[in-house]
Amino acid sequence: MKPPVFVSRIIPDEGLELVLEACDADVWQDELPAPHDVLLDKIKNKVGLLSLLTDRIDAELMDLNPQLRVVSNYAVGFDNIDIPAATARGLPVGNTPGVLTDTTADFAFTLMVAAARRVVEGADYVRAGRWKTWGPKLLTGVDIHGATLGLVGFGRIGQAMARRARGFDMRVLYYDQYRREDLEASMGVTYVDMDTLLRESDFVSIHTDLNASTRHLFNASAFAKMKPSAILINSARGPIVEPQALYDALASGKIRAAALDVTEPEPINMDSPLLSLPNCLIVPHIASATIATRGKMAEMAAKNLIAGVNGERLPTPVNPEVYDKGIRK
Ligand code: DGY
Repeated sequence: MKPPVFVSRIIPDEGLELVLEACDADVWQDELPAPHDVLLDKIKNKVGLLSLLTDRIDAELMDLNPQLRVVSNYAVGFDNIDIPAATARGLPVGNTPGVLTDTTADFAFTLMVAAARRVVEGADYVRAGRWKTWGPKLLTGVDIHGATLGLVGFGRIGQAMARRARGFDMRVLYYDQYRREDLEASMGVTYVDMDTLLRESDFVSIHTDLNASTRHLFNASAFAKMKPSAILINSARGPIVEPQALYDALASGKIRAAALDVTEPEPINMDSPLLSLPNCLIVPHIASATIATRGKMAEMAAKNLIAGVNGERLPTPVNPEVYDKGIRK
């Protein structure tokens, strides 16, 4: 008999086919996520769960399902999962690191350029039939080349962003709780404290994970330290930026513009005042959304799931310490 698992959304074939071959899989077919109570019901008697970042995986879910041997998250981020609770219960959790690094950095860079050069405003201008002539001051933006980029978070994606910035002759500053002196000379980046980064950067791009210390890191006090000409890019997690403070900063000219792939909440409420601002570009959490990368993420998530249901070590566990104290059987 194949191990019973729940797959909380249809994932690309590269992963789904592996899961269907190795497991007795119940795959959620809707475009929207299963409500939490339905999820709780669906994973009764399942030994594996392939979750998405839209699923809340909490201690209640783990306790209701002591037979659950693995949670495999189809994402590199895992703030939707209570990791300490999983570790305490001997439950391995997997994620999909590495395969989306360059794709996400490509997109963060795209957002930066789009906001700086007002690409979406320009496209809207044309579609609205407002293009009457070439104009010396029409839709003027700011230069990327020669500007200072401040990276908040210097993990895989932050570093990939720095590599792209070099090609545009940018000066790159970074702040991270772990200083990477070993990379500074070869990558041409400079470590600074957060205040210096905010004060000196023309572009501030967020590449940190969401945790208690980064929640609402970008608040009124952070925006007050930024240049009035600065542009904020967030392709990490929405709640790192406080939405009302961002609105106030953009509406009052404390900063020039923002480009957001992620928001708080997701999806953004349609009555959010951020949607009324021409200097706030918002897209629906698509930084990793290329066909190739989503396929690789699916394969990785499937391999974590299958290893977990078979009692094997996950290829990419988030909480490897779980193996020291013994996993759930
Ligand atoms: C992740 O993987 O955490 C992204 O936010 C979605 O790809």
